[in-house]
Amino acid sequence: MNAAAQSNWMHMKKTFILFLFTLAFGVLLIGERATAQGYIPLWIPDTLSGTTFDLTPAPSFTHFLSGPSTPTEGINGPIWGPTLIFRQGDSVHINVHNGLDDATTVHWHGMHLPPTADGGPHQPIPSSGWWHPSWKVTNNAATYWYHPHLHMLTERQLLLGLGGLIIIRDSLESALPLPRTYGVDDIPLVLTDRRFNHDSNNVIASSHYGDTMLTNFTFNAGFTVPAQFVRFRILCGTNERFYKIGFSDNRTFYIITSDGGLLNAPVPVTRIVLGPGERVEILVNFAGQQGKAVNMKAFNTELALDQPGSEPIDYPIPDFANGLGHRDFNILHLQIGNPTANPITKLPTKLASNVFWDTTKVNATRHIRMTDAEGADGAPVSTSWFNGKFFDFARIDFHVKRDNIEIWELENQSAIEHPFHIHDIQFHILDRNGVPPPLEEQGWKDVVRVTSGSTVRFITRFTDFSDSLNPYMYHCHIAYHEDAGMMGQFVVEGPPSTVSVPGAHATEDLSSVVFYSNFPEPVTSLTKLRFRLPSEQVVTLKVYNVLGDEVATLENRRLPAGNHDVTFDATNLLSGHYFLRLQSGSTVLTRQMTKLSR
Ligand code: C2O
Ligand code: CU
Ligand code: CU
Repeated sequence: MNAAAQSNWMHMKKTFILFLFTLAFGVLLIGERATAQGYIPLWIPDTLSGTTFDLTPAPSFTHFLSGPSTPTEGINGPIWGPTLIFRQGDSVHINVHNGLDDATTVHWHGMHLPPTADGGPHQPIPSSGWWHPSWKVTNNAATYWYHPHLHMLTERQLLLGLGGLIIIRDSLESALPLPRTYGVDDIPLVLTDRRFNHDSNNVIASSHYGDTMLTNFTFNAGFTVPAQFVRFRILCGTNERFYKIGFSDNRTFYIITSDGGLLNAPVPVTRIVLGPGERVEILVNFAGQQGKAVNMKAFNTELALDQPGSEPIDYPIPDFANGLGHRDFNILHLQIGNPTANPITKLPTKLASNVFWDTTKVNATRHIRMTDAEGADGAPVSTSWFNGKFFDFARIDFHVKRDNIEIWELENQSAIEHPFHIHDIQFHILDRNGVPPPLEEQGWKDVVRVTSGSTVRFITRFTDFSDSLNPYMYHCHIAYHEDAGMMGQFVVEGPPSTVSVPGAHATEDLSSVVFYSNFPEPVTSLTKLRFRLPSEQVVTLKVYNVLGDEVATLENRRLPAGNHDVTFDATNLLSGHYFLRLQSGSTVLTRQMTKLSR
């Protein structure tokens, strides 16, 4: 088939899919029809680089389709956020100002950093509050991302558009002849989908699956690539859908990274499956193809039955039936233009020499069993557990010794495939049911897809950042599973970390503030809290619930150095989980506590 015939054929196919949508929903998607003949230029997020980054999540509007603009949330812009470029070895300081009406968190997915800088559910930022994490970047060059992680609101805030990419550069990657001109031959691709409520001003529906593919939040996206090797940094940024990615001409492409770094050598494939949270960087050769066009596609008819996204449109549970289910559809229309001045035309044969841990040096093996939760009638429902438990802020699931080398065994007894993610570390997959994973999964990973009926084993080491008070999370990265409690937490314990944590604002030193409390702090009706200030300063001490709503102000004034005792009357608090948040200037200290029922 020549290029013109092929692109005609793609148009016919697209029209047919739109026709199916129309039949299925009885709604004519006016915006989609109006743009069906012309691709919309792929949006490329701006970049921020350096060592200090200002991020402001705030509500806004985005015009996705023709008709009304959609209420969205974005960071420094209407939707999503800037791509942060970090250099390995730099200490980065981030100023997050929450301009949302709700609390949120900003989690640095894939980063090795202290738990207090992690941005998980334990670091809520109240509406109009600030957060100033900082850490030294030690991760390998690869593509990472940041996203909200407020417990039970993660899916909602992701749906509204919050998030952003992180590109880390290091000397190993910089020395390789790889495409790295952002937006020209090095293209970020955030894959996701949404369901728009066309009867209600195109608002984003609360739905685990969308029926509209969005690539960098662009509907029906097209992009012109130069005729040479082009690098795509692909994030599966969905709430639930997996993608089986390939090209309309079935061309071979080359995977060069896994989640947390370069692979040893490019891996040639014609398809790659990504689940929520996973990233790959690929190289695609367009040399000599000027004037032609090809589509990057999701071949989701080829997904395995346990993979989310394989459900057909008539799937019996309405929540999971959707217009993109079990279909092949376009991700990005690529027009091939002229080559750039200094094109990359050769595929490197060697990328890295990764060294992983020795299985004979393992200090602990942990087992996590994933099951479908059962309803009262014994029928499976759609939430899932780890080891028969739901997430509980007040329970530390694992106490890990600092520097432990551990094997984690993930056994999936549920009917669907879950993308398992762990904070703090990168791991190496040993095997699935005893068989080593394909080459593209043999690099550094922080998400692993655990197929139904399989046991996956990975090996990792928990270096640095011992902190018995502040846990890290592990969870299924399907956002609504995570929100529904398919999550656990672990602390890294041991001799104080030898890694120095850079202080962003050394003049407002709260590092020696101690709450004289245990983890988690049980709160009864009248609770005495003590903290010690190293110097005279203006402090606020407030109590928030897990959704970041303020429930009490305990201090808000200038206090002298020394011990301070505060009595907190928790009589009217419901039993449950709360955060104490002590703030002086821009420095914030968070401690969790639990109100016990009496
Ligand atoms: Cu992508 Cu717990 O995170
Ligand atoms: Cu993460
Ligand atoms: Cu899951």
